[in-house]
This record gives sequence, structure tokens and C-alpha cells, in this order.
Amino acid sequence: MKRRGVILAGGKGTRLGDLTKVTNKHLLPVGSMPMVFYPLKKLVGAGISEILLVSGTEHMGDFVELLGSGREYGCSLTYRVQDEAGGIAQALGLAAHFCRDAISVVLLGDNIFYDPLGPIVEEASSHPEWAWLTLMKVSDPQRFGVAELQNDRIVSIEEKPAKPKSDYAVLGIYIYPPDVYDIIPELRPSGRGELEITDVNQRFLKQERLGYSLLNNYWTDAGTLDSLAYANQLVRQQPPLF
Ligand code: G1P
Repeated sequence: MKRRGVILAGGKGTRLGDLTKVTNKHLLPVGSMPMVFYPLKKLVGAGISEILLVSGTEHMGDFVELLGSGREYGCSLTYRVQDEAGGIAQALGLAAHFCRDAISVVLLGDNIFYDPLGPIVEEASSHPEWAWLTLMKVSDPQRFGVAELQNDRIVSIEEKPAKPKSDYAVLGIYIYPPDVYDIIPELRPSGRGELEITDVNQRFLKQERLGYSLLNNYWTDAGTLDSLAYANQLVRQQPPLF
């Protein structure tokens, strides 16, 4: 099955305060590039050249101005507008038509990591009917989706649990078979009023169609002032592999 890439670059970026007052989080600098270049180059580096970018109404023009057709970056870009910030799963739902007959390789636009994406996509291809997550041990798992492992299998996933059952964060790197787009319309908003990607992943877990890869090197989100500063430090010390 062919693969298509999805970059989720919406949201209000409220955790970044005035930095996102007039611009989108994913346009802020990380090292020498706007943040959105990182997921874009990861996908292209993994051989995925048909890419959909989802963002809100306010800054879509800026993304188009920055990235254009994608030609300069070795890919073909399609843009879709998320009218209101309604969660990661809602944003992904907008890719339904684009990814209908493809494996969707989905990156959250604010996730910065060292390892190349290709090997993860390769591992996931051992189970093309499964959803495939990427996990990494972190020191503050309560900030993320958390996966509990038993005998190397995921046995539970929780979104930002107060008492995490493990240190394994679910990173913003997701690979889905086409039927993910049948699951999303069945979701109900969470306590924070969003369609949660964790709920999507729980469905696959229930159906025993959930695998994962582990990252070997650094990873961070860049959605808070601390993590944005950390992302800048990481990419300057050791630029990621694309
Ligand atoms: C989102 C997901 C969470 C995941 C994280 C990775 O959280 O909901 O499961 O661990 O991205 O960056 P957010 O930080 O967007 O609330």
C-alpha cells in the first residue's frame, strides 16, 4: 500500500504565551529552521512525498507562503483547514480523503526528534493493518499519552494520567491503516472538549492491532516555553537525521 504523510500544525499554542500571539507555533524557529521544517524533512527523508498539512484559518496563508507546493523540499503539499481547534484526532479526520487508500504517517508538527523516520515506517510495515506508535521513556510522563507495557506488548494507554503506569510517553509519530478514518467519526470529545488521538489508539489496542517502535535518541515536543528552549538546544548540539 502507498504511504502518505500528514503534518498536524494547528492549535492555538496558548502554552507559549505571547510567542504565538500573531503567529503559529509551528512557524517559530527551532535551530536554523521554522519548526514545521522538521516533520516535513522527516517525511521526505522516509521517502514520503505526498504530504497533507493541516492548520487553522489564521495562519494557513503563512504556511503556503513558506512551503509553497513543496517542490523546493522534494514533496507535493496539500493543505487543509481545521476551522476550530478540536483536537488531534479531529485534525487527522480531515486527512480522510487524502489518505483513503494509503497508510497514513502522521507527525505532530511540534515534535522534534533525532532518529530518522524511515526505520520506524519500515518496522510498522510488518503489520500493515495495525496502528503503530512510537514510544520513549521520559522523566515527566504525566504530560503525555502514556503506554503501559507487559511482555513487550502495549496493554493500556492513558492521556496525561495523574498517576502514570509507566515512563513510556506516546510520541507524536503515528502510523495508521486506512480504517482509522472510520474510527474518528465515532469518537466523542474528551473532558477538555477535544477528539483525542489516545482514544483512537485505544480502539486499535482493543482490537489487538497496536504495535510500537522505540526511539533511541532524543525527542521533545516544543509546545511550552521550556520544551521549545530545550528543542533549540538539542538541534544545535546534534542536528536530527532526516
Ligand atoms: C499530544 C497527545 C499526547 C502525546 C503528545 C506528544 O498532547 O495528546 O498523547 O503524548 O501530543 O507530543 P498535547 O501536548 O498536544 O496536548
